[in-house]
Amino acid sequence: MKRSRSSLAHQVTYAIKNPRKIRPHLRRLARDTWFRLRTRDHVAYYRAVMRSDTARDPEGAVGSHTHRRWLALGRLQFDYLVEHGLKPECRMLEIGCGNLRAGRLFIGYLYTGNYYGVDISPDILMAAQDTIVKHGLGDKMPYLTAVRDLRFAFLPDEHFDVVHAHSVFSHSPLEVIEECFAHVGRVMKPGGWFDFTFDRTEGREHQVLREDFYYRTETLIALAEKHKLRAVFMEDWERSPHKQSKIRITKLA
Ligand SMILES: C[S@@+](CC[C@H](N)C(=O)[O-])C[C@H]1O[C@@H](n2cnc3c(N)ncnc32)[C@H](O)[C@@H]1O
Repeated sequence: MKRSRSSLAHQVTYAIKNPRKIRPHLRRLARDTWFRLRTRDHVAYYRAVMRSDTARDPEGAVGSHTHRRWLALGRLQFDYLVEHGLKPECRMLEIGCGNLRAGRLFIGYLYTGNYYGVDISPDILMAAQDTIVKHGLGDKMPYLTAVRDLRFAFLPDEHFDVVHAHSVFSHSPLEVIEECFAHVGRVMKPGGWFDFTFDRTEGREHQVLREDFYYRTETLIALAEKHKLRAVFMEDWERSPHKQSKIRITKLA
């Protein structure tokens, strides 16, 4: 059972067990409070978080604190998607592509021009360009675009076979996820699918510092169904070493 990390009891127990983490946590609390006071909404706030984290370390900013883990986490996402239907001819939209931890492998695998990455952070997209250069992927002509919302208004109807969002909704309030569900179906081909990960709780839904959000599976499945999308919990992903859970949404043909 995954417990609420926002409860005082959890935080006190955690602090007693991990005294060295108290100081960095307080620093993060102070920084996040400052960003929250200076920004108008969640996306602007999280963009400021990404700007600060990317300036320190782009790989750390997407959640990998060593290069080895950055490579391994990208590989994990890529292998799973290939085992679950991704083909070189697919057109793929990656939401919250970061600095292409998995994107570099998707770009290498897909036909030229078939990868489209979007992110709210211009800073991490500049780091993504560095990844393209470092891995010699420029000939694959990947698209990278900064966005301010998840309406996809600038993208064509029924264009993508596959949509992917790893570790994005774990940083998103429900209204951002709903905005995505309300609009993503339009840009997906009939029969296309959308895999996303989320931080799962079996208890009370909660958030920590407006950076990490914990949802019940049934909340996200019901939200997808409200927008006429079919949603399935991916049981086999639970056997992966990753701590988040995964749902696949399908646009019915
Ligand atoms: C933890 S990182 C993961 C990046 C990438 N998916 C990966 O696995 O390496 C989360 C990314 O999602 C982006 N992001 C967060 N909220 C977003 C939103 N509402 N729309 C688009 N991107 C978002 C962040 O800027 C960041 O690059």
